[in-house]
Amino acid sequence: MKASGGREAAKRRAGESAADLVEDGMIVGLGTGSTAAHAIRALGRAVDAGLNVSGIPTSYQSRALAREVGIPLTTLDAARPDIAIDGADQVADGDLIKGGGAAHAREKVVDASADRFVVVADETKRAAALDRPVAVEALPDAVPVVEDRVAAAGGDPALRSAERKDGPVVTDNGNLVLDCEFGAIDDPAGLAASLAGVPGVVAHGLFVGMADEVHVGGDGVSVERY
Ligand code: A5P
Repeated sequence: MKASGGREAAKRRAGESAADLVEDGMIVGLGTGSTAAHAIRALGRAVDAGLNVSGIPTSYQSRALAREVGIPLTTLDAARPDIAIDGADQVADGDLIKGGGAAHAREKVVDASADRFVVVADETKRAAALDRPVAVEALPDAVPVVEDRVAAAGGDPALRSAERKDGPVVTDNGNLVLDCEFGAIDDPAGLAASLAGVPGVVAHGLFVGMADEVHVGGDGVSVERY
């Protein structure tokens, strides 16, 4: 069933629901993507209304948006997030696939360092099992070796191509991204551990056992707690 107002309205409801959790004085991890952007805009409005918060962005995109809407910024050198609000490409039982925007390396650092990690998603992201391709950020020189190891683990890696630029996507960290098709992932924790152990892999998009809450936007918002 389609959410009223369409998918964008569902994303907005999820983002605003998570932004409502932010209290005065908090440090907030600012996720990347179109759903997290709704939370960032809602926080910007709250800052305009007098809320005192600082944000730690997870990407060039979230940093730029936070600056545009007037959220003061800080870094992990100075503080750790009380809460992080971030989107996902797929959610199953609180486990996530992320990295559709190639920001998963910094997202993982910020989200994992938060006291409370809140995921925001519209209901099209919910699945019984994770089966989307897993984004693997790799050092450019390591790509052929990472491809071999992904294939040995049963995956089919494809170098992500840029749009409106010839050649591959280059991440905010100067690395490349392999989208690795594994089919349905029966053991997300096992796959996450093997990918993390490949030399040259900077970060992969499996976020296993990290989420504390998932705010799912539809006609309303349902909250799943883990
Ligand atoms: C960025 O690399 C991703 O992890 C995003 O958080 C994810 O792709 C969700 O983005 P949307 O909210 O735009 O679907």
